[in-house]
Amino acid sequence: SVSFTHTKHHAKWSDKQTEALAKLAKEFTLSTAQLEHLTSAFLDQMQSGLAGDHKSSDLAMIPTFVAGRPDGHERGSYLALDLGGTNLRVCLITLKGNHELESHSRAFKVSDHLQEAHISELMDFIAISIKEFITSEHISSKIVEHPSGSDTLELGFTFSFPVTQTAIDAGMLLRWTKGFSCPGAVGNDIVQLLQEALNRNEVNVHVAALVNDTVGTLLAHSYKHPNTFIGAIFGTGTNGAYVEATRSIKTMSHPTAKEMIVNIEWGNFDKDKRVLPVTPFDNKLDRESINPGVHVFEKMISGMYLGEITRNILLHLIDHRLLFDGTSSQKLNTHWAFETKFMSQIESDTSATLIPIAQILEQELGIYLNTQVDREIVKAVCQMVGKRAARLSAMATAAVVRRGLSVEGHFAGHGYPLKLSEGDHVFGARTGVHKNETATEGVHERTDSAVDHGGNLQQINVGIDGSVFEHYPHFKERMFEGLTELLGPRAKELVALGIATDGSGVGAALAALIATKHCR
Ligand code: GLC
Repeated sequence: SVSFTHTKHHAKWSDKQTEALAKLAKEFTLSTAQLEHLTSAFLDQMQSGLAGDHKSSDLAMIPTFVAGRPDGHERGSYLALDLGGTNLRVCLITLKGNHELESHSRAFKVSDHLQEAHISELMDFIAISIKEFITSEHISSKIVEHPSGSDTLELGFTFSFPVTQTAIDAGMLLRWTKGFSCPGAVGNDIVQLLQEALNRNEVNVHVAALVNDTVGTLLAHSYKHPNTFIGAIFGTGTNGAYVEATRSIKTMSHPTAKEMIVNIEWGNFDKDKRVLPVTPFDNKLDRESINPGVHVFEKMISGMYLGEITRNILLHLIDHRLLFDGTSSQKLNTHWAFETKFMSQIESDTSATLIPIAQILEQELGIYLNTQVDREIVKAVCQMVGKRAARLSAMATAAVVRRGLSVEGHFAGHGYPLKLSEGDHVFGARTGVHKNETATEGVHERTDSAVDHGGNLQQINVGIDGSVFEHYPHFKERMFEGLTELLGPRAKELVALGIATDGSGVGAALAALIATKHCR
């Protein structure tokens, strides 16, 4: 029996099926050499993005005006807003110091209509949701320590789209992504649009900070773990943020702080497909998407798209009469109908006969006639697409780690080898607080770095959020395979990938704290 990736076949595939799947596997497999090549292209684009050379870079490299990282001692109650997908979440976050916090939240569904309605309609909906939350949760009674002393609530807004910021509380939307297309937003200040809606609806809330979800995730993870230098999202979309030395951010005219968090917007990496190994299935998806020609990298990685790539491949196999006896279903013929969630379920099925996969095919996709060979093929296709996504995610993460450790970067402050060998030691900071950490309250310039006073490399914490990372089977292990190929055999000691629980909510609250305590 032939085996693709992890599956051993139990049933007998025809020669044509074997051949077709081998061809697909070749297109979807990324060798170490390819990953290396992509990593250097990614590093080049980071560099030119920081220099403001947007002709040679697809990476926006947006300075966020968040110049400090929390150390877990911060205190106060803040409202937090999280918008980035089909849900709007309104939260009240109470930071209790000592790395602890309490959070209450409520989700409001953002209807398909609202995702394309005029921006003022979306903002009114947000304002009214906040009003409802404040009333129904009796917010004023829950606030233990009022940040500003006035009765205006301070709010941090996690807005998970590309925004060029001019201050922590001001930023213009560059473009919509992930299926949103509300007119009236691109080119306008998101904070102002929300503040106007709040005022219009008589909600006594002040928008103090605007952050990307990757930035929120970095901040939230940093509240619990020292040595957090990177925040990443692998969810509906994908993106990363990291701590950069301000002297390297050439697009900022008068930087005052030593370090600043930069929002990479890595979903847009190599949008012109110069180095990314896109397949015809990816091109079809891109062409038929709401934002063709941009965020091509994101379309190979994130939850909004993986199912659709898989659907395109399955239809190709059906059309060649290599799957389901050449018959599709109405559901499978429907754009976006194959959800990434199904891939997770399919990849989780490790039984010999793959009966659970038959159930998904029948109940979710209306494919009633499927043989064991069909199910094995469907699973093999999911594995190719899922594995490629994880390896590309590892590539982006490794590139950022390399930048931080290299001469240009900041985490280590001075040059470190790009690839650690067996003999290099990494001293795990793991979790918890550094012994020598100062217990001053409030966000301040951190002194921790990836190298301790003795010059020893410390573990780098990456805060991650998103359904793909959390729920897609083997995603994390596959990422570590890629990281090991790119960063050397000690990658697991060098980099800790941690889930930042409610990164967007907690991060928004921390950003509001940074803004009210330090920028005013
Ligand atoms: C998209 C957005 C980006 C966000 C990411 C993850 O790529 O453009 O801002 O961080 O999705 O939600």
